[in-house]
Order: sequence, then C-alpha cells, then structure tokens
Amino acid sequence: FPKYNLNGSNENERILKLKGYVGFEKLAHQYVNKIVKEGISFNILCIGETGIGKSTLMDTLFNTNLSSSTSTHCLENVDLKSNTFELSEKNVNLKLTIIETCGYGDQIDKSNSHQEILNYLDKQYESFLQEELSLNRNIHQINDKLVHLCLYFISPTGHSLKAIDLNTMKALDSKVNIIPIIAKADTICKNELLHFKQRIMNEIFKNSINIYQFPTNENDSCVNNQNLIANSLYPLAVIGSNEIVKFGNKQVRGRQYEWGIVSIENESHCDFVKLREMILSTNMFDLIEITHTKHYQTFRATRYIELGFCDNENFDPDKKNKCRILRTIKDVYCAKKLDLDEEMHLKELQFKDKFIKKVKEKELIIKEMEKNLNSKFNQWKIEQDEWRHRIEFKRRELDDQMREFTERKFCLDKLKLSTLSSVKNL
Ligand code: GTP
Ligand code: MG
Repeated sequence: FPKYNLNGSNENERILKLKGYVGFEKLAHQYVNKIVKEGISFNILCIGETGIGKSTLMDTLFNTNLSSSTSTHCLENVDLKSNTFELSEKNVNLKLTIIETCGYGDQIDKSNSHQEILNYLDKQYESFLQEELSLNRNIHQINDKLVHLCLYFISPTGHSLKAIDLNTMKALDSKVNIIPIIAKADTICKNELLHFKQRIMNEIFKNSINIYQFPTNENDSCVNNQNLIANSLYPLAVIGSNEIVKFGNKQVRGRQYEWGIVSIENESHCDFVKLREMILSTNMFDLIEITHTKHYQTFRATRYIELGFCDNENFDPDKKNKCRILRTIKDVYCAKKLDLDEEMHLKELQFKDKFIKKVKEKELIIKEMEKNLNSKFNQWKIEQDEWRHRIEFKRRELDDQMREFTERKFCLDKLKLSTLSSVKNL
C-alpha cells in the first residue's frame, strides 16, 4: 500500500495524519466480543489404557465432576466414546468435547490399536472438508468437531515407552497435537520420574515422533519463558483426583494416602498445574490454530492431490503414474471430463466387441442347429421315400394277386358252368 505523507518530504511517500478519532483500533475488541458471544469449542482426545485415569484427569482439569462411565477390559477392539459439555467461566462459554478411548491396550494383538483413532480423526477432517466445499456451508458449526489436543497417557511403569505407545504416537503425529503425559505420577518416586522422563523423550526423539511444542516465538517474553519451561518438563507428570482433602489448614484437590497427602496443585508434587496453565490459559488458541493451519492443511492438501488438484505446476505427486499437472477447478473438471469420455469410449468399444463376439457365437450355434435339422430332414425324407417304395411294391404285389385270383375264379366259374351243362345233357 502507498504511504501518505502530508509533510511533503517525499512525494512518493506520503503519511496522512488522522485529524480525529476514526475507530479501527476497536477492531480487536469487536473480534473478541464476537468470539465471546459465539463461545469457543475445544475438543480433547484422551488416549490411554483402560483405568489409567483419563476421566479423573479431565475432571481435575476443568474442576468438574463429569462422571463418565468406566470401560471394561473385555472389548475386542478399541473404541471411542465422546461427551460434550457446556462450561462457562466469567462470561466466556466453552463447548468442551472429551473423546476417550475404550479398551485401548486390552487386545492380544495391539499392532492396530491406533487404527480406530486414526479413522475417527480422518472422519472429522473429511466432514470438515466436505462442509467447506459445500455451497451452503455453516462455517461456525464445522469448526466444532476437529480434535485440537490429544493427551497421550503413558503408563507409570518407570521403565520406558511400550510398542503400542510408539506405534500410536507415530501414526497420529501428523494428524493432531500430541502432548504426552505420565499418568498416575504419584506412583513413581522423584528420581525415578526424572530418569523415566528422559528415557521417554529419548525414545520419542529416536523414533522421530512429532509431539506438540509449546510456542516460544510469541511477542510476550513472559509467555515464551513459561512455554520454554513447559517444553523442558516434557512429558508432564500428572496426578488426577476427584476428592477434596485437607492439606494443612487448606482444602485442596488431592489424594490421601496412609503416609500423607498429595496435593495436585502443588508444583513440587506433579506437573498438573503446568499442564493446566499451558493448555487452558496460555496455548488454547495456538492448539486450535495449529489444528487448522497445520494438521487440517496437510489432510486437505493430500485429499486435493488425490482429487487431482495441485498449486504448483512442477509438482508431480506420483512420478510412477504420469499424473497430469492441474491448477484450477476448471482444469480439473475438463481433465475429469476427458478421462470420463475416454473411459466411456473404451467401455463402448468393449461392449461393441462383446456384442459382436456374442452375435457370432449365436450365429455359429444357429448354423450348427440348422445343419443338424437339415441332415435330420434329409434322413427322414430318405426313410419316407423308402417307405413309399415299399408300400407301392406291396400294393402292386396285392394287385397282381387280385388279378390272378380274379382270373382263376373266372376260369373256375367257366369250368363249373361247362361241367353243369354236360351233366344236364347226360
Ligand atoms: P476408563 O474410562 O474406564 O478406561 O478409565 P479411565 O482411564 O477414565 O480412569 P478413571 O479416571 O476412571 O480412573 C480409574 C481409577 O484410577 C480410579 O479409581 C481413579 O481414582 C484412579 N486414578 C485416577 N487418577 C489417578 C492418579 O493420578 N493416581 C492414582 N493413584 N490413581 C488415580
Ligand atoms: Mg474414563
């Protein structure tokens, strides 16, 4: 944009000073007011073994008692259950959806445990894409369903990650923001926890798993520092509890043991406060934004390439198949039409060939039948002629016999008459 300068120092660069109040500084307030009015949707996916503390942590995180039903260990396949809650803090409304795995890690063959989760994420992205492409889209509603955060609950074995953890995190890392957390961290002592965290991070790094990093390039240096500290605490060790216990002279959310009390909000007991601060107060917007700008974009680009769209003319998604490079919807439409026409033409030729082949086959069969009938007819005719000849012969024989008989009768009659006359004369 050209700059307007009223001092006249540089004709090309003019800076116009405002003489009064215009009001575009309020744009940010308008935006905030609109978001506050519409409310915010935030969707969390909790992946972890049955009974690892997923629901309890969600209750602890949002200071609620959302009381979801517990799962059994007998499910044949991994399943997902989703619950949506309307929460509000001051005048901000939050539509919170919690999706929890059921039966995760309970099967004998765990190699495909991530498949159901992957299908769920893809389904959400696909319906978002379809809604985005439709003519009468409802942009506010479609924003609702994408998973913004995946909390991966690591079992507090104190040892290392399991194959199922690595497989699932690897399979999902390009689809969702993954934050790995050590569940039930009250079951590991402090030194062991440090080594456990280190081993987990080494394995994540060795297997090139992309976990969500709290952003450190914000304008606010305080936020950057907090995020830097949170990144160094990865994987965050958390404890969940639905109980309020007496800690000193305070009532706190915690767990009461024979030997003492664990206060969930005490940062020397666990990283729960850090987790809550990081995902709710500091980085919720970043999580939503990254879901849309990174993960959804990746999905969308892949789907568009599958459909034949491409921005870059030199980009060839699959060099093995000679892929036509396409740029606009019109190009795609024309190319698809050409492909379809070609396909139709091929099909037409195939049908013609088939038809001709079938007609020829039928013709051959009919000719064969005709030949058979002709030979049968000839045979029958010969037989008929033979019969006629035989009958004719028999008739002639009979005629001869009749004639002979008549002659003999005549002679006999004559003889009889002559005998009679001779007798009379006597
Ligand atoms: P499913 O939904 O059935 O798979 O279980 P879940 O993962 O949601 O676990 P849930 O929150 O129902 O907790 C299971 C049990 O673990 C409950 O008895 C909780 O009190 C307990 N629990 C939850 N969090 C913690 C924790 O941090 N430490 C300890 N020691 N126990 C916990
Ligand atoms: Mg649960």
